[in-house]
Amino acid sequence: MPESSSLLLATQARMPALLAAFLDARNPLASRLSGAMRYAVMNGGKRVRPALVFGAAQAAGGGQQHAKPAAIAVELIHCYSLVHDDLPCMDDDDLRRGVPTCHKAFDEATALLAGDTLQALAFVALAEGPDQSIVGRQVKVLSVAAADMAVGQALDVAGEGKSLDVAALEQIHRHKTGALIRASVALGAIAGGADVATLQALDTFADRLGLAFQVHDDVLDVIGDTGRIGKTAGADAALNKSTYPALLGLDAAQALAVRLHDEAVAALAPLGMAAAPLRELADFLVARDH
Ligand code: IPE
Ligand code: IPE
Ligand code: MG
Ligand code: MG
Ligand code: MG
Repeated sequence: MPESSSLLLATQARMPALLAAFLDARNPLASRLSGAMRYAVMNGGKRVRPALVFGAAQAAGGGQQHAKPAAIAVELIHCYSLVHDDLPCMDDDDLRRGVPTCHKAFDEATALLAGDTLQALAFVALAEGPDQSIVGRQVKVLSVAAADMAVGQALDVAGEGKSLDVAALEQIHRHKTGALIRASVALGAIAGGADVATLQALDTFADRLGLAFQVHDDVLDVIGDTGRIGKTAGADAALNKSTYPALLGLDAAQALAVRLHDEAVAALAPLGMAAAPLRELADFLVARDH
């Protein structure tokens, strides 16, 4: 199993400073709220979505500098989605990234507002980007994805205790998780100055990878170790969620993730070596144990 990817390691090294500098530049009056925001962001996530932003910018032939605002923005949206996902009215989880969930460490109202604020600040990050000619397109991409994510979460919650078919589950996964992964790649591609053919190739990559990522997340809920995944294993079954392992069986779910990975990587072929870091990242994401 690939231990990690060089793109992911490099992103994990650079994101804490970028995220901290961005959050520190805000000056919220409510110190408890800003504490909760920092708690939700500065806590060792894998930073997969920022890595996809940087990887896509590179695959498009662009530099990394113009990709930084989008890398910050997608991680802020993602962290907000996790804070809300863990709330008692959603998945009611106590553990996230190996530490108590935001509402456990603070309180529900603060966690709710931390999520709200992080979402708004994501668009500030984009709007402050150095290349104003791409901001409008990027805001559209990210806002559509954030809305799709919320739709997916609504369908996910509504589906608890119901036996969904694979088509319905795929729709949930494509929305709740796939949309932001696809947006991460699109934002990086835009920052990297991708032409239409490159945008299309990268979008096909992200479409397959986004679904594979959530299928593997479902798999980890079954076979993962709580200490390693940093969240409570078995939480999906406890909530009667429809998941790929529940619907297809564990082996078929894992096989599907690999097939989607293969389709994702095949879409990168026209991009040659510039897409090598994205390929390596995709390899890690369907083999990861956390
Ligand atoms: C977890 O995402 C939630 C999903 C959308 C599946 P990650 O596995 O990327 O979580 P972190 O950011 O590393 O904690
Ligand atoms: C999370 O799906 C999707 C979003 C946070 C948008 P899950 O509910 O499966 O994520 P985890 O397993 O709690 O990280
Ligand atoms: Mg959930
Ligand atoms: Mg959850
Ligand atoms: Mg999960």
